[in-house]
Amino acid sequence: MATVYVSRRLPDPVMAELARRFTLIGQPHDRPATREELLEAASQADALAVALTEHVDADVLDRAPRLKVVAVYAVGYDNVDVAAATRRGIVVTNTPDVLTETTADLAWALILAVTRRIPEADRLVREGRWEGWAPAQLLGADVFGKTLGIIGMGRIGRAVARRAAGFGMAVLYYTQHPLRHEEEVEWHAKHLPLLQVLQGADIVTIHTPLTDSTRGLIGKAELAVMRRSAYLINTARGAIVDEAALAEALEQGRLAGAGLDVYQHEPRVHPRLLALPNTVLLPHIGSATTETRMKMGLMVADNITAVLEGRKVPHRVN
Ligand code: DGY
Repeated sequence: MATVYVSRRLPDPVMAELARRFTLIGQPHDRPATREELLEAASQADALAVALTEHVDADVLDRAPRLKVVAVYAVGYDNVDVAAATRRGIVVTNTPDVLTETTADLAWALILAVTRRIPEADRLVREGRWEGWAPAQLLGADVFGKTLGIIGMGRIGRAVARRAAGFGMAVLYYTQHPLRHEEEVEWHAKHLPLLQVLQGADIVTIHTPLTDSTRGLIGKAELAVMRRSAYLINTARGAIVDEAALAEALEQGRLAGAGLDVYQHEPRVHPRLLALPNTVLLPHIGSATTETRMKMGLMVADNITAVLEGRKVPHRVN
């Protein structure tokens, strides 16, 4: 049987399925694998099943004489040096599709949480500080009928746009792959350059992968053109946004709020973002539902099996 290293403890049925198909090496943890654990595993494995918390770079690949596949338990694979893997003939796979709706739901949870100040309101009640209904208490911003800006109209961006139609919203979007005309009509969506999306939107939500061209895409200059009443939502990757510039814009009242699920240096969150009352900060839970994490795990198992059996690989990225 092929030898597979699983870096993180995946749902029990997934671990059982992996153990049924492969010889598992190492001990999957509830914490990220250390560099030493990853290097040691790479030296023996036919396949690495890693999460976004493990960095599979050229050094790791150099220590991996038998390695045939790096199967990422995520749709984003910016933690893997794909070019280095390709040069060594190693397949890289990811888990798209199964987490699309789950992540779109979370983007919407953040949109509603930050505009309607849900965490602040919850804390008020829970901490016993609520003294009864008041006309000016915790006033937020309407979402229904507003304009949504979507950065990146891939699978998740489209799922977010579909939901926006139910909120009577107009959609402005920036992407390399525009929608079909019928979709634009159905979702009240208009394709525009980045700055025009940022200028025209009440809420901007990011759904683009992290690549060399999207790193720092939303920096000081981009934040400066957004409306003072606008909100920024990020469920994609933290490094797409310049966190210091975002904190400064929020502190100076040049933005109304931000809802973030991802950060530049996870699990560290920029201290100035933590200190602000108008940020809603989640611990990277975009795909975190029982059903979706199960499907992602089984997809990892299928990707590895396909590579090792020399069959067509369902979700190959290189
Ligand atoms: C992904 O899949 O890229 C998420 O960030 C983690 O599930």
